[in-house]
Amino acid sequence: MKFSHEWIEKNPWLLIALVLLVISVGGLVEIVPLFFQKSTTEPIAGLKPYSPLRLVGRDIYVREGCYNCHSQMIRPFRAETERYGHYSVAGEFVYDRPFQWGSKRTGPDLARVGGRYNDDWHRTHLDNPRDVVPESNMPGYPWLASTKLVPDDVVPKMRALKRLNVPYSEDEINQAAGILVDKTEQDALIAYLQGLGILIKARN
Ligand code: HEC
Repeated sequence: MKFSHEWIEKNPWLLIALVLLVISVGGLVEIVPLFFQKSTTEPIAGLKPYSPLRLVGRDIYVREGCYNCHSQMIRPFRAETERYGHYSVAGEFVYDRPFQWGSKRTGPDLARVGGRYNDDWHRTHLDNPRDVVPESNMPGYPWLASTKLVPDDVVPKMRALKRLNVPYSEDEINQAAGILVDKTEQDALIAYLQGLGILIKARN
């Protein structure tokens, strides 16, 4: 039988199969190279794996669902870069597992919030956002300030990340729990926030 598009178009199951095939190939051609390109797999200059305190803070960020209202990805558009700073680049997130990019912005993007406020501002804001931003509808998280970390919990987390190629040394892992003694969940979360996006600062 002579090959013609008409034949494909009159066989819906064949059409569906071929459409899926074309989409898969098209998708793979776009996605697979990203796993091998330096610009997406290599950390940007100066990027270090999360310190134990920031690593724990990041988990608190995830646990409390901050990502439901905050993205961490500045898109390369003028309206975004004027407000938040340099757009996000893939190399900033190579140690983020999982990344917190998101797209829901009930509150502002936090990708470069590090250093924008001092620690005291964050403490007040996390206890009760309305004390510093009267019109805020962000919930308060007052229990973070009175909840101590469980230092030993960080060790298996770091080991798991090491297995995923995050370059923690054995010394760093062995000393990690000691660093967290007497720290609160709020200390950890603020340390996490204060480091966000600070390696690329310039607004251009
Ligand atoms: C219900 C939505 C909501 C949730 C959940 C939420 N926020 Fe917010 N957040 C906001 C809004 C709205 C603002 C802007 C008003 C303000 O500053 O309080 C904001 C502002 C902020 C700011 C200041 C950003 C800036 O550039 O001024 C930080 C930092 C922040 N949130 C951190 C957090 C953290 C950490 C969590 C999780 C513990 C969290 N938020 C959870 C809605 C939310």
